[in-house]
Amino acid sequence: MNKKEVSAKVAGDVSLGGEISIHRLGYGAMRLTGAGIWGPPKDRKGALAVLRRAVELDVNFIDTADSYGPHASEELIAEALFPYPPGLVIATKGGWNRPGPNQWTHDASPSHLRAAVEGSLKRLRLDRIEVYQLHIPDPVVPFEASLETLAQLRNEGKIRLIGLSNVTQEHIERARKIVPIVSVQNRYSFADREWDYVVDYCQRNGIAFIPWFPLGAGKVAGDVLERIARAHQATPMQTAIAWLLRRSPIMLPIPGTSSIEHLEQNVAAASLRLSDEEYQKLFAVPALVASR
Ligand SMILES: NC(=O)c1ccc[n+]([C@@H]2O[C@H](COP(=O)([O-])OP(=O)(O)OC[C@H]3O[C@@H](n4cnc5c(N)ncnc54)[C@H](OP(=O)(O)O)[C@@H]3O)[C@@H](O)[C@H]2O)c1
Repeated sequence: MNKKEVSAKVAGDVSLGGEISIHRLGYGAMRLTGAGIWGPPKDRKGALAVLRRAVELDVNFIDTADSYGPHASEELIAEALFPYPPGLVIATKGGWNRPGPNQWTHDASPSHLRAAVEGSLKRLRLDRIEVYQLHIPDPVVPFEASLETLAQLRNEGKIRLIGLSNVTQEHIERARKIVPIVSVQNRYSFADREWDYVVDYCQRNGIAFIPWFPLGAGKVAGDVLERIARAHQATPMQTAIAWLLRRSPIMLPIPGTSSIEHLEQNVAAASLRLSDEEYQKLFAVPALVASR
């Protein structure tokens, strides 16, 4: 692994709807909040420093949501980085309410989404949100009603591009009848592949796929991963990120961390190249686990 060049540029670029090009290794800002994704961070200065370091390392895609904190993650991003450097894309989301730590209740109703977009614009100090993602379909709100609201907000100039999260292929197809969809964010890693078919669908349709939990929240391990990591003098985390980058050219990992050291390690993973054999060995891990 080339440890000298620690830059998100090394990961190459991915297009969002043919309109914006970003480096294919982003940063997830959910972990900057307090425990239970609730309240401000314990170490506020440290959280601001992580965000600034991400930009120094050429990260130009930051994922957040109004529900992280709630509000704390978006506020920290603005405090650390406003006025934003040219080309920085902040992708936020709406569709949850937060009654307390570790509690998430659906609300993707038109009135909630409209208020959520207004709130995010204010906290992020933006006139327009570059990428707005429906955080999750709401089981009691027609999916089309949520998407039509986002499409209207796009027509009003408050949102530039629209993404989805926690969706099936059917959701994506229904959404695309209403408005162009530039990204899909679902849980995914080499060991967690329920959404393989959605990754393939996104690749066929030029939609960026943003894997959340790309590191299994720090617990990705296993003999195969550790052996491959050792061979590259890399960490298991870096190897898991390298596998994602290799999985598809539309893959846009957003590893989350509150630590500068971990952030630097994660960005350095862009220069880790797995051999075909290593890639295939990791690809086969879920089947291996299932057969035990
Ligand atoms: N759309 C959704 O529903 C959804 C759901 C969850 C998350 N997300 C987004 O996806 C992003 C990433 O997901 P995630 O944060 O849940 O999971 P993750 O990136 O898989 O893991 C984050 C955890 O791994 C640790 N970590 C990170 N880098 C590490 C390293 N190099 N070495 C050791 N430990 C490391 C972090 O702890 P330290 O802080 O100690 O580094 C943190 O606890 C979030 O930040 C958020 O933006 C979206």
